[in-house]
Amino acid sequence: MTWVQNAWYVAAWDGDVGRTPLARTICGQPVMLYRKLDGSPVAMRDACPHRLLPLSMGLKEGDSIRCRYHGLKLGADGVAEEMPIRTDAVNKRICVETFPIVERHRFLWIWMGDKAAADPDLIPNLWPCSAPGWVFDGGYVRVAADYRLMIDNLMDLTHETYVHAGSIGQIELMEAPLETRVEGNSVFLSRWMPGVDAPPFWRTALGKEGDVDRWQICQFVAPSNVIIDVGVAPVGAGATLESHDQGVRGFVIDCMTPETETSMHYFWGMARNFAQEDRGLSARLKAMQAGVFAEDIVVLEAQQCSIEANPQEKVQAYNIDQGGIRSRQIIERLRAAERAERT
Ligand code: FES
Ligand SMILES: [Fe+2]
Repeated sequence: MTWVQNAWYVAAWDGDVGRTPLARTICGQPVMLYRKLDGSPVAMRDACPHRLLPLSMGLKEGDSIRCRYHGLKLGADGVAEEMPIRTDAVNKRICVETFPIVERHRFLWIWMGDKAAADPDLIPNLWPCSAPGWVFDGGYVRVAADYRLMIDNLMDLTHETYVHAGSIGQIELMEAPLETRVEGNSVFLSRWMPGVDAPPFWRTALGKEGDVDRWQICQFVAPSNVIIDVGVAPVGAGATLESHDQGVRGFVIDCMTPETETSMHYFWGMARNFAQEDRGLSARLKAMQAGVFAEDIVVLEAQQCSIEANPQEKVQAYNIDQGGIRSRQIIERLRAAERAERT
């Protein structure tokens, strides 16, 4: 496998899981997700312990699920509650694997590794997605590419010029110096643009004329999240690269969950601390982001096909690939530690 096993991954948006089971392959494992009557989420292996029919095809009965083949009934804890022949004594040793699942920052986070190590404190701190004063929304798309290709893509803003020529590409971004920094299991790519002309989107958000200080800070958060801190503040308001709440601020949120070695679940969105009540703006931002990411997905899926079609060729790294390289180094370090622990 190409991913870190002992980590929390986004399994779904909070709104995408309800009473009806949702089937999704996560880190190569078929999983079924649903909510109990009290709203709490459940994640279990999507295979009946009897003849392995997907449980997601089954029938919900209260918090339990009844297999649609021979009627074995399992509780939300995965343990058998009723045998196919209802008068048979229940064998409590019959059970399906369940996975730790926690709801936080508008997402359901799943842990596919060693269950004893599933500490909710290890969930990536996506605070702008749930902090008061911030509003957050976004979307989901399955992408037929290795999740690491998306990390490379997000940790490299030079692709904006060509991939996003028609949307967000802008020459001024290319000219600002880029600083790369590694801190623990994070990589930061920062760009500080003092005294620039605010682009139309940010001028409207700020609601003021005049030059601004602008920033873009991409942060890779292991095992596979990228959050991009973006915004502008009026010149002289005291904003710095380290602290910048003087103007308007947004976070582009990207969480990549491996589906297989060559496909991923991509959860994206934007959190902002301005015009929180403006639902129209939320909808427009979401549509705009979906359009921009569609441009990336075309490239990534073609890149994945090309990588598979050219097995004798090696992917090269240039100077511009620093962000992706360092992020992958962190993933490799964590994977090596897991391998060492297993042996
Ligand atoms: S396959 Fe599920 S009860 Fe037989
Ligand atoms: Fe992009």
